[in-house]
Amino acid sequence: MARKQAKLPPVSELSEREAAAELERLAAEIKHHDQLYYQSDAPEISDADYDELRRRNDAIEACFPKLARADSPSHRVGAPAAETFAKVRHRVPMLSLGNAFEDEEVAEFAARVRRFLSLKADDSLAITAEPKIDGLSISIRYQDGHFVEAATRGDGTEGENVTANVRTILEIPAELAGRKVPSVAEIRGEIYMSHADFAQLNTAQSKSGGKVFANPRNAAAGSLRQLDSAITASRPLRFFAYAWGEMSEMPADTQKGMVEAFANWGLPVNPLMRVCESADGMLAFYREIGERRASLGYDIDGVVYKVNRLDYQDRLGFVSRSPRWAIAHKFPAEQAVTVLRDIEIQVGRTGSLTPVAKLEPVTVGGVVVSNATLHNEDEIARKDIRIGDTVVVQRAGDVIPQIVRVLVEKRPAGAKSFVFPKVCPVCGSHAVREADESPGAGGVVRRCTGGLICPAQAKERLKHFVSRLAFDIEGLGEEKIELFFEEGLIRQPADIFTLEARDQASAAPLAERKGFGKKSVEKLFRAIEARRAIALNRFIFALGIRYVGETTAKDLARAFRTFEAFRSAAEAAARDGKDSEAYRDIDDIEGIGETVVDALVDFFSEPHNVAALDDLLQYVSPSPYERPAAVSSPVTGKTVVFTGKLERVGRSEAKAQAERLGAKVSGSVSSKTDYVIAGADAGSKLTNAQKLGVTILTEDEWLALIKG
Ligand code: IVH
Repeated sequence: MARKQAKLPPVSELSEREAAAELERLAAEIKHHDQLYYQSDAPEISDADYDELRRRNDAIEACFPKLARADSPSHRVGAPAAETFAKVRHRVPMLSLGNAFEDEEVAEFAARVRRFLSLKADDSLAITAEPKIDGLSISIRYQDGHFVEAATRGDGTEGENVTANVRTILEIPAELAGRKVPSVAEIRGEIYMSHADFAQLNTAQSKSGGKVFANPRNAAAGSLRQLDSAITASRPLRFFAYAWGEMSEMPADTQKGMVEAFANWGLPVNPLMRVCESADGMLAFYREIGERRASLGYDIDGVVYKVNRLDYQDRLGFVSRSPRWAIAHKFPAEQAVTVLRDIEIQVGRTGSLTPVAKLEPVTVGGVVVSNATLHNEDEIARKDIRIGDTVVVQRAGDVIPQIVRVLVEKRPAGAKSFVFPKVCPVCGSHAVREADESPGAGGVVRRCTGGLICPAQAKERLKHFVSRLAFDIEGLGEEKIELFFEEGLIRQPADIFTLEARDQASAAPLAERKGFGKKSVEKLFRAIEARRAIALNRFIFALGIRYVGETTAKDLARAFRTFEAFRSAAEAAARDGKDSEAYRDIDDIEGIGETVVDALVDFFSEPHNVAALDDLLQYVSPSPYERPAAVSSPVTGKTVVFTGKLERVGRSEAKAQAERLGAKVSGSVSSKTDYVIAGADAGSKLTNAQKLGVTILTEDEWLALIKG
């Protein structure tokens, strides 16, 4: 939107007073446009008009050098600090790791890998072991050996651009050394802070009245997420390289070789990494590191094992967001003793009543803990936890602290068993006991039946709706949702998008209220506006359908591509029931099971949900899912079914391979099946395929087909 500039007197004709006034005006005006441009991505004037303002400012300063202001725009170079970080899309997703806690799980990991690869008993399988650094992961991109970009992990697909800050970390080279550096090398690893540096930083912070950090991890994260990179530069951050993203040429064909190449390029790598040949070797490493843990000088929370051969890693691939070829073996959680002061009941988004232990604050593993989860009523009864009890709490990594047991000998006289409420503490509706199928839930849950009338549920749904992996609206966090909900300003998702219009018509606009300010309100409205277009997977996740977490939402978005397709499939499944084709089609999607399909059916069968959704869709358009770099192979888009015993590769590997090539692997044969791959002793699926006239392939024919 170009704004007409008023005709201004030539600089040479200005008096000193006029010049001073002009400089003041120009400083304010240029600052205003800088903010719009850099921080809101919403400039009001054209670049040419902006340049004109700057030129006039410079010209006046040249004529009246004495008048140059301290806040003159001519002193500012480049972009001012942004109030948020720009987003970076990871070209190769940043994954997380599956966890093991017990020795048996480690042995099972090695055995699973062997099975998947169909290795024979005497085939060797080398696995690297290295400390799991407790910091934050980062991806650093080098082009032709030059550092060009650094991004945080974020949600794994999209992180924050922290290039300016990472550039200040001394251990991270600006140029990679050596001649054989690939033209594109994305190095991944952990940014952390050593114990000594952490202690020193906290001493300095408390002296200067600055923020004191709870542990080195928080200090590292807080130091990296600074909008002013001068602050990051003053913080002692360190780095270990242990993985990679995009890599134009591979310098090695093993995990160990890759890390050695990183070291040769001048990147810091952990010196403790070792190659193990057996589960016993892995466990020996784990014990050794456990013993040395306290003297390492930095925090680690376990050991990471990775299959050494990269061709094996490729074959193993991924399950949802973790590689099949790696696992984290975590150290046991740290524990402390404290007193349970009270038990509070929180009402979740789906109405679940979760008991939360209110504790006398205690330090566990370097963090002050005052709340712990009690899971559900059975857990309280099983552990016989009573208010006033002295309890053992434990905390492992980022997991919510838990109560392990009660020290019964310290129980105060007269402490009574806890009576779990049978009604919702917020809306008073009857609360029913149900089986809870979510992973790790431990069997039962008491659920408020208030549904849409329960304000606690509505509020939690809204918080979920705006959360980081959903709509992620800057400036509209949990606290604001609480406030706006209480005041009746936002009661359902669509209200968020009409907030600005209603605010303009309001007698008491937000900008005039305490704690808001014009700028922050403007920013909030712009952040809301920016979300009128949203990625389909985020949109589906935001709806808060039970069992539809971030990964499932992505699976659904990938499968249906558009919201309309997703919705009509779910509505058809709701209408036509469990035996319908629509129901089966959703159930057949990789990663989706009946629990999810039933939850979709429940969601779309509830008229209130549909009404709220339709309201929302008036303001928001979910954009079609962008498939990451479409694979194209002779079987892309084909539906295939494996049956019988395969000889060349294991069943899981064959399935994973087919999916990687863009095929849809189904468990049952129907008229929509393109190929049935029949191994030895194939049963009813083969007969079915013959009946339906589906193309049947031997394993060799299949392998020939996919080799193209
Ligand atoms: S490998 C695809 N190695 O642990 C696998 N991760 O729980 C990439 N981490 O997000 C990760 N030390 O931040 C790997 N030696 C190590 C690690 C490590 C710490 C962190 C990393 C990752 C998280 C997964």
